[in-house]
Amino acid sequence: MAVDTMPHARTQVSPLFRYIPLALAVCLPLVAQRLPGNVHPEHYSLSLTPDLKTATFTGEETIEVTLAQPAKQITLNAAEITFKDVTIRSGADTQGATVSVDPDKEQAVFEVANTIPAGRATIHIRYTGILNNELRGFYLSKTPTRNYAVTQFEPTDARRAFPCFDEPSYKAIFSVTLVVDIGDTAISNTNIIYDRPGPVATKHTIKFATTPKMSTYLVAFLVGDFQCVSGQSEGIPIRACATPGKQDLGKFAVSAAEFVLRYYDNYFGIRYPLPKLDLVAIPDFEAGAMENFGCITYRETDLLIDEKTASIRAKENVAEVVAHEMAHQWFGDLVTMQWWNNLWLNEGFATWMETKPVAVWHPEWNVPQQDARELSATMNYDAQKVTRPIRSQVETPAQINEQFDPISYGKAGGILAMVENYLGEETFRRGVHNYLEAHLYANATAEDFWNAQTKTSGKPVDKIMSSFVAQPGVPLLTFSAPGKDSVAVREQRFYLSSSMNSDTNQTWTIPVCFKKEYGNDCELVTSPQQTLPVPSGPIFFADAGAMGYYRTNYPPEVRTSIAKKADRDLTPPERIAFTSDQWALTVSGRGNVGDYLNLVSDLRDDPNAGVISEATGAVVTVNDRIATDDDRKRLAGWVDREFKPPYEKIHLVRSDDTPNRIELRGDLFSVLGDIGEDPAVIAESRDITERWLKNQASVEPTLATAARTVASTHGDATLYDQLVQLYKTSQDPIVRTGALESLTNFRDPALIHRTLAYVISDQVRTQDATYLLAALLMHRGSRDLTWQFIRENWDRVKSRITPLAASRLVYATGSFCTTEARDQVTAFFNEHKVAAADRAMKQAVDSINRCVDLREHQEPKLKAWLASSSAE
Ligand code: BES
Ligand code: ZN
Repeated sequence: MAVDTMPHARTQVSPLFRYIPLALAVCLPLVAQRLPGNVHPEHYSLSLTPDLKTATFTGEETIEVTLAQPAKQITLNAAEITFKDVTIRSGADTQGATVSVDPDKEQAVFEVANTIPAGRATIHIRYTGILNNELRGFYLSKTPTRNYAVTQFEPTDARRAFPCFDEPSYKAIFSVTLVVDIGDTAISNTNIIYDRPGPVATKHTIKFATTPKMSTYLVAFLVGDFQCVSGQSEGIPIRACATPGKQDLGKFAVSAAEFVLRYYDNYFGIRYPLPKLDLVAIPDFEAGAMENFGCITYRETDLLIDEKTASIRAKENVAEVVAHEMAHQWFGDLVTMQWWNNLWLNEGFATWMETKPVAVWHPEWNVPQQDARELSATMNYDAQKVTRPIRSQVETPAQINEQFDPISYGKAGGILAMVENYLGEETFRRGVHNYLEAHLYANATAEDFWNAQTKTSGKPVDKIMSSFVAQPGVPLLTFSAPGKDSVAVREQRFYLSSSMNSDTNQTWTIPVCFKKEYGNDCELVTSPQQTLPVPSGPIFFADAGAMGYYRTNYPPEVRTSIAKKADRDLTPPERIAFTSDQWALTVSGRGNVGDYLNLVSDLRDDPNAGVISEATGAVVTVNDRIATDDDRKRLAGWVDREFKPPYEKIHLVRSDDTPNRIELRGDLFSVLGDIGEDPAVIAESRDITERWLKNQASVEPTLATAARTVASTHGDATLYDQLVQLYKTSQDPIVRTGALESLTNFRDPALIHRTLAYVISDQVRTQDATYLLAALLMHRGSRDLTWQFIRENWDRVKSRITPLAASRLVYATGSFCTTEARDQVTAFFNEHKVAAADRAMKQAVDSINRCVDLREHQEPKLKAWLASSSAE
């Protein structure tokens, strides 16, 4: 089920690349594209003059390089660059070079008549390029009033802005100069060292301080009339910048960054290395955010917050995105993976780290509950038939892009959290410090990391981590009934599909932590069959801390006893882990949907929002994937009877509401409205939404978000028009996106058609279009019409889907649940290739097959259970 194997989106239209297999729009040949390696850059001096009106730029570049061997040729990367002239100087000899370009390899070769000796040489290049519309390289972003020239280089697009050795291990220093219009400013990685009029009357020239040694993909320069708000932390000036009028919405992010910088300086024991830190919101931005050294760029919704209108989740999202990109300043920017096959060293770390400072900054947000939910969603993704190991072979830009997926992010982050839980926070922190210290301003590999951890801790971290980094999939631990002081456990591979046999010949080295009276007791599971000592304690539970990257299966009597004691003896994250294991086991054919719903019923009074939303999330799946129309009516009745009483206890908004109470109210409201079809809740959703439309600050924002979804699901053309109007007129990015997303919920076919036409029109930015189409495919009410529309309008749709998001659309077709739909999807995408979406395609087909299978096995059980539970 695409719906429940896609880890949770923070906000619906947020891109969340960690969850999405990416694709490149252009088909690139699978030829080796690595640079030959003889020539190393030391220092780039770059002077760029963008013309925002004609969407072009001119560049002048000097690269100081070192040749390991004498050569007549120098090969570097360049794409869509027009060379004017190239000279190469070594000693007193300056020669003109002939340039040949290979567009497929995105390389240029400079050739000279006389051999350049080994040692230092200087390349001088004059060239022109284009400010493209593709959201990568040096590109154009637009507002209704003007254009901006901005950059996005990761992973392989610096070569579109300047010829360079565009691989992460070729670190060099950069001196950037920008020539911009009077009245405009420029932001880059470092501070400005001078800003002078000229070279012509209409321009001024801004020179930035030379950077420390860094990789090309982390260079950034942004040109336009950005406005900023500022703060500082640990002596480092911090700014948040945006297009004029929106800068005040950056204040929240500045205070998050102030906290996070102090936290990281202390945590890493290594000070933030640059003289300043800027966070800049860009109107057109394909990813969520990008960790350019000292100059982090963001989608507006991932940086700009109005505290009066933003939900807790939206604030938490911004804080975590800020913390994620700031973590990269150490992991990624200061110490960089040697090559993209170890992208997880960047993204897994930033994912693991991003919640740490936020959990301390705002403990009342209950971040550990979110982490437990995230981990479960990641395991569901990884328990599909089609997945990949954390570290995989990659050569081409398309293959590199495909690495930005839930495996590099969520899985790698989850493995790090599990190891930290095993070693203890302080031991792990020292290992991290030692690893970073050993590779400052340089590159590292997976082995460098786990060897450092093994050395500092004296524990077999290398064995644990290599087993999870090199092998795909999720382990399943099946426990026998525990004896007096020992228990037998079986280790095998877990699949979500009941038609897959669980492999027993794949084993991991797994730290399994048992719950003790006080604290945990961790043991290593290393073989398919093993006996472990059992700690004494009030409860037998094998995932203490809820950080295990494995699913756990207990004998029925043990499971029942855990369920009974859960509210007293397990923490909320542990209850989430337990509940999500039960659901995964059910889906895999090891359980009955009725038993799962009984567990949900036992949990319905749980006071924690995270537990309730995990439990009810699976009910959404039952409703969407398993139930027939007839079952759905009965399920609605059951949901209403179960969840109305806990909702009524907390439904009044009070001034002393805790975030937990606010979120719990929102979650219960959603399940009662969306699944329970409760008439009072639906009517209330309309009221709340009307008030919100008039004044977004007048309604508690988390409830407003839940209400808007229910109201739009049941909404008419009047509501639709009001939402479109708000999308057009609001200045608050989160309000605008909220309104836009709501359009995907309407069920009236005429309104679905309006949304489809709107999404592919110029009224919606391309950065949002694909996510909206994916949402329309995932909603039951709009799925069929959307699929028909996509097929009929493929050329236009294709021109609107951004390369990074293309495979998300393919993945979303996995939410169909019939063999006919599966065959249509396969036939269509075989004929209309989406580049580098091969894995997403296979996952979609597998997802549909799994759904068909699940429905066949569980629908009769659901029916029987509904009959008995309505009879009660
Ligand atoms: N390095 C990525 C941005 C990126 C993603 C560049 C894909 C190139 C391709 C950045 O650190 C990141 O992970 N951004 C996330 C947000 C983050 C908080 C999970 C994103 O863009 O979704
Ligand atoms: Zn990242």
